[in-house]
Amino acid sequence: MSEYIATPDMNCMTEKDRNLVYEPAEDTFLLLDALQKDSENIRNRRPTVVLEVGCGSGVVSVFLSELLGKSHPAHILCTDINPAATNLARRLSFHNGQQVQPVLTDLVSCFGDQLNSKVDLLLFNPPYVVTPSQEVGISDISASWAGGVDGREVLDRFLPHVEKLLSSNGVFYLVAIKENKIEEIQEHLRKFGLSMSLVMDRRSGPEHLMVLRFERLHVALLCNGD
Ligand SMILES: C[S@@+](CC[C@H](N)C(=O)[O-])C[C@H]1O[C@@H](n2cnc3c(N)ncnc32)[C@H](O)[C@@H]1O
Repeated sequence: MSEYIATPDMNCMTEKDRNLVYEPAEDTFLLLDALQKDSENIRNRRPTVVLEVGCGSGVVSVFLSELLGKSHPAHILCTDINPAATNLARRLSFHNGQQVQPVLTDLVSCFGDQLNSKVDLLLFNPPYVVTPSQEVGISDISASWAGGVDGREVLDRFLPHVEKLLSSNGVFYLVAIKENKIEEIQEHLRKFGLSMSLVMDRRSGPEHLMVLRFERLHVALLCNGD
């Protein structure tokens, strides 16, 4: 039985933050539950570089920092396109005594090639809601949900980076809903040698939320007891 990790203390999130930054919701909590479920597997991989794209409040990165703890210290980076989000993530990390480093950027563009083949743990809870394309790409709170066609416009720009970023035993956790056409995402990453498994799913109102895990096939066979 793996040790239970509490949700980070969110008391530093102010009313102003709530108007500007995505507040942890069902999708966030599903991702935290999936990471808790996979916690032994994650620790056993001994990740040294962790990167969360689209960190919002920073709660997922701070949770991971707590999950890895002092026994498995890792460099935890997270990005967001919304300056209010990176600002809050920095405060949340400090408030919880962790050392997450938020970076304001579009996806992972500020890193150039620097993180190629170095990321052991990659995460993205993207804006996945199907919306008109015109709503995509604004760097305020609407960037939290506006996913454009099939809810995939932001994710599709990120997918080509996934295999390049992952280290040889790296793993990518992705939040998605059925409308995102999961089999197309699976096929896209399969072409780069990454295999997909479903870690957890949950119905929340009209949404069927899923947490998917992608990793190189040989690693999937070696590391997962499931
Ligand atoms: C569904 S929210 C998830 C927030 C947080 N990770 C969570 O699970 O609660 C999606 C996040 O992605 C960010 N985002 C959207 N487009 C982005 C982009 N092009 N680059 C970086 N972050 C982006 C949004 O600002 C938002 O914070």
